[in-house]
Amino acid sequence: MIDIHAHILNNLDDGPENLKEARRLVSLLHSEGVEMVIATPHLIPERYPEVTKSTVRRRIRELEGIIPIYEGYELHANYLPEDLDEYTLAGSNYILIEFSPFTPSSSIPLILRSIKNRGFIPIIAHTERYSLEIGTLKRFKKSGALLQFNAESIINMGTILYKLIKLEIIDFIASDIHPGRKAGLRDAYTIVKDYSEELANRLFYLNPYSVIKNQKIDGGIL
Ligand SMILES: [Fe+2]
Repeated sequence: MIDIHAHILNNLDDGPENLKEARRLVSLLHSEGVEMVIATPHLIPERYPEVTKSTVRRRIRELEGIIPIYEGYELHANYLPEDLDEYTLAGSNYILIEFSPFTPSSSIPLILRSIKNRGFIPIIAHTERYSLEIGTLKRFKKSGALLQFNAESIINMGTILYKLIKLEIIDFIASDIHPGRKAGLRDAYTIVKDYSEELANRLFYLNPYSVIKNQKIDGGIL
């Protein structure tokens, strides 16, 4: 698998407190089947001023050795940087974006469209936090976004998961791992694979790999 959402870099945002703990998190991901990971610290300058490109790159260099780690960020809709192209996932045209819990889901499509108009493809981080209502999720997708769900949420979702799967709403399943949180990837993978191995392969490997390769999710070049 390839994990596109992980808080694994030490002494940055709400990630691990030291390199040893960072290594433990990466080893944990690896033990769940992750072969590549995009590190995505929060880019919220007011809260985490230590998250800068040079620091992120340094931390990645220090941490590498278990599996390849790519540079990425989890952007916040209220703090979008001017130079969005510097804060994409693995240098691609894809950006990972979260929203304030106070942002009404009705205003999310407008924000997504404005990102699309700037030439980027927004991937909504932990989409399940904003809505599980099918109509709303479809509106997110119509606005040009792809939807990432957290593995831990997938495990606990129950029957709604099969509805989302049937309607092809989910584009990525990622860990969003933090210290003290489970990765959940192996269990989530098993649940999806029991439904369809082809789909599990797409959500956990092929779609994330297209992000790293900067290719369209259906395989074409962007
Ligand atoms: Fe996150």
